[in-house]
Amino acid sequence: MNNSYELVPPPAHAMIESLRGVGYSVEAALADIIDNSLAADAKNVRLHFEFAGADSWISILDDGRGMNEPELRRAMTLGGRSPLDTRTSSDLGRFGFGLKTASFAQCRRLTVASKKGGSRAVRRWDLDLIARPDVNDWRLLSEPAPGSEDRLLGLENEDSGTLVLWERMDRLTAGMLSDDRRSEDAFLLMIDRVEQHLGMVFHRFLEGSHPELKIFINGTDARSRVRPWDPFLAWSPATSITPVERIPTANGLVELQGYVLPHKDQLTEEEFREGAGRDGWTSQQGFYVYRNRRLLVAGGWLGLGEPRLWTREEPYKLARLSLEFPNTADEDWEIDIKKSTARPPRVLKARLTALAETVRSQARQVFAHRGAYGKRAPTADLQSAWTVDEAGSGTRYRINRSHPAILLVLEAAGRDQAVVEQALRLIEETVPVQRIWLDTVEKGEIRKEAFAEAPPPELEGIACSLFKHLTTRVGLSPELARQQLLSTDPFQNYPDIINRLVPEAA
Ligand SMILES: Nc1ncnc2c1ncn2[C@@H]1O[C@H](COP(=O)(O)OP(=O)(O)OP(=O)(O)O)[C@@H](O)[C@H]1O
Ligand SMILES: [Mg+2]
Repeated sequence: MNNSYELVPPPAHAMIESLRGVGYSVEAALADIIDNSLAADAKNVRLHFEFAGADSWISILDDGRGMNEPELRRAMTLGGRSPLDTRTSSDLGRFGFGLKTASFAQCRRLTVASKKGGSRAVRRWDLDLIARPDVNDWRLLSEPAPGSEDRLLGLENEDSGTLVLWERMDRLTAGMLSDDRRSEDAFLLMIDRVEQHLGMVFHRFLEGSHPELKIFINGTDARSRVRPWDPFLAWSPATSITPVERIPTANGLVELQGYVLPHKDQLTEEEFREGAGRDGWTSQQGFYVYRNRRLLVAGGWLGLGEPRLWTREEPYKLARLSLEFPNTADEDWEIDIKKSTARPPRVLKARLTALAETVRSQARQVFAHRGAYGKRAPTADLQSAWTVDEAGSGTRYRINRSHPAILLVLEAAGRDQAVVEQALRLIEETVPVQRIWLDTVEKGEIRKEAFAEAPPPELEGIACSLFKHLTTRVGLSPELARQQLLSTDPFQNYPDIINRLVPEAA
């Protein structure tokens, strides 16, 4: 066997110029930089955008752990960490490329200054230097560019932290002139887009009265703080929420939850505008995929749907689902360097499809039945026949004793209630969860929602007897009884049947 070989390291200039083509938007690139701040336990991130035509610059300062000289050198090295390394659960990184690729996509000069244990380290990549034929090598500079020192001053106020500085942003400022209104407007519009994007991507970190993270843009006061954008309008009582499903997989726990957002009539104009999100209601329907609580994918149907793949269509615009996986499962989800795509593993597809079908169909009903839903009391939580109990040793499925049909049985049982209760407990204890799960995965057998498609004759019968019970024994008015049924699973899917119900003539 011939063991002769040659070493062929890539020419630095060509390599970096190609990496620039990865296609990061400014907002995605900034999110990648902030991922690193979060991983370094930063509590505050301050972005500074300075407009000066082609000399515009952006800095990102955090108060995280910071880096010493060797750490910073490694951080600036392409692929300084292997994608195969195990990462802590708060580490949002994976590839050892983000800082460099995100920055190079935006600027030709990347300076990083970092403070740890009282001393400051600085490293700089200057693509114009590397492009020189007499250099063309991985020459990492250890000082800021002449004249740029002032731009690193923010770090002085921190005990530890990191400042990333982007200068010579050739792409972002292409065609821009300083002292030019239109150029400056375009720059400001870009800042707005960044603000919206960060508010969305990091909303789970920015939320609450004591948020884990605060991001500021061009200022330090409350007005400069990036506000979280919650895609699920969870604050609205008119949002219907399915119980969290926790799905164990070989590489960690996946959490899944569906939301049917309120009809426009149940929101103020401003709430409706805000709720739409950056790209509008129709575009922002579907799955929101989170990795360690950081949003990777904002909407879309992840290539699910049968027999035809689901696309983003108006009638389903109120359907949004949250899907969360840990970084131990990165490989299963095929995440990319930009942290902007993730593909669900095959083994989960049936489960995701099943919940998405339910949420989509409810969302369609809310969208279509403006009148009925507009008038509904703001308690849109559906009364489901089953509830999922997450407490204690694991997930338990329980029959909802306050579902009107169950109430009816218990009441009808009179003195025999204990017997009925025993039967309910027996059913609960013996739900063939494993079997259902296997059938779903192996045979792709997913029963659609209860009584899906054309309502079977018995559905109308059940609705009639419940309606009779509610209007006579419980003493509700016909209107209230109909409303109650419309917020009870599965009757909410059949407003035509429910709205036809009238008290029997005496
Ligand atoms: N703001 C920061 N504070 C502290 N350490 C940082 C910071 N930014 C980067 N680092 C260090 O530099 C390393 C390289 O960062 P980089 O973003 O290039 O790759 P990564 O985060 O490891 O993976 P990915 O390519 O998925 O982002 C990080 O792993 C971290 O150790
Ligand atoms: Mg990173």
